[in-house]
Amino acid sequence: MKKFQQKHLLGTENLSKEELLDIIETAKKFKDLINKGHDRIATLEGKIVVLMFFEPSTRTRSSFEIAAKRLGASTIDFSSIKSSATKGETLIDTAKNLEAMQPDVFVIRHSNSGTPYLLSKIQNIPIINAGDGFHEHPSQALLDLMTILEHKPHIEKQKVLIVGDIAHSRVARSNIYSLKTMGADVAVCGPATMLPPEINKLGVKVYTELDKALPNYDVVMMLRIQAERGSINNQFPSLREYSRFWGLKDKSKPLMKPDVLIMHPGPMNRGVEISQSVADSERSVILPQVTNGVAIRMSLLHKVCNGKSIEEVI
Ligand code: CP
Repeated sequence: MKKFQQKHLLGTENLSKEELLDIIETAKKFKDLINKGHDRIATLEGKIVVLMFFEPSTRTRSSFEIAAKRLGASTIDFSSIKSSATKGETLIDTAKNLEAMQPDVFVIRHSNSGTPYLLSKIQNIPIINAGDGFHEHPSQALLDLMTILEHKPHIEKQKVLIVGDIAHSRVARSNIYSLKTMGADVAVCGPATMLPPEINKLGVKVYTELDKALPNYDVVMMLRIQAERGSINNQFPSLREYSRFWGLKDKSKPLMKPDVLIMHPGPMNRGVEISQSVADSERSVILPQVTNGVAIRMSLLHKVCNGKSIEEVI
């Protein structure tokens, strides 16, 4: 099996099935050890992880920090608001100065698509993309894939529906790439105004009516409207209309397969794209997704930082 040995993790678009599975296999080892009571698996003792978040985050930032600490690494929390970026320092100068302090990896989230790629071209330390604009969010797609595989191991027989603001969603893009690579049958659904032009070129089916799509799918992944990327203005009549036509709610339950998996990357806007009762239903794996996020991020940090073998440190 070809292991994941790339220097950076910039996206899922260029990851093979073997590389995706290798990252998930290592994440499963970490998850099992944590569940057996190993709260510290110090394969990265002495390493330093810089968390560069230029956009807000709850799940991704916290889980990278928890992952780093469980691996024995230290973290530096670079906040753009408290940094000299506010005094006009460019992103490239900021990154070069942080690199000069010789940390071991940058985890970066930025509102501009392509920022992690740009940094990977001008500096030497590994870069993990924690979400760039509406381009990619690879660690989210990996934790989503791990969660699906836990419930539906024969991924090539699964039909996955991604619903909502597809055009502005880095989660949708990374999931489409990884799920297609794994052989799943992927579809998207949303208002026509929230579907990117030429979406068909990604090899997905396209629906604009949720109720027609739901009965066919094994996994339903709901997305938030990306208001911060301008998608609240003029793209649908009102939030009430959006929820009525593209929200998952009590009335949707009888339309779905009894063993459907309901997913959401968070943060959720309850009552808009997903109702309280669906988000908290027995078919929801939204919190297990978050738990798997720590294991996936441990696996990624361990791999890009060339951690010691797990067997050596436990
Ligand atoms: N899913 C996700 O990226 O959540 P955060 O924005 O809270 O990190």
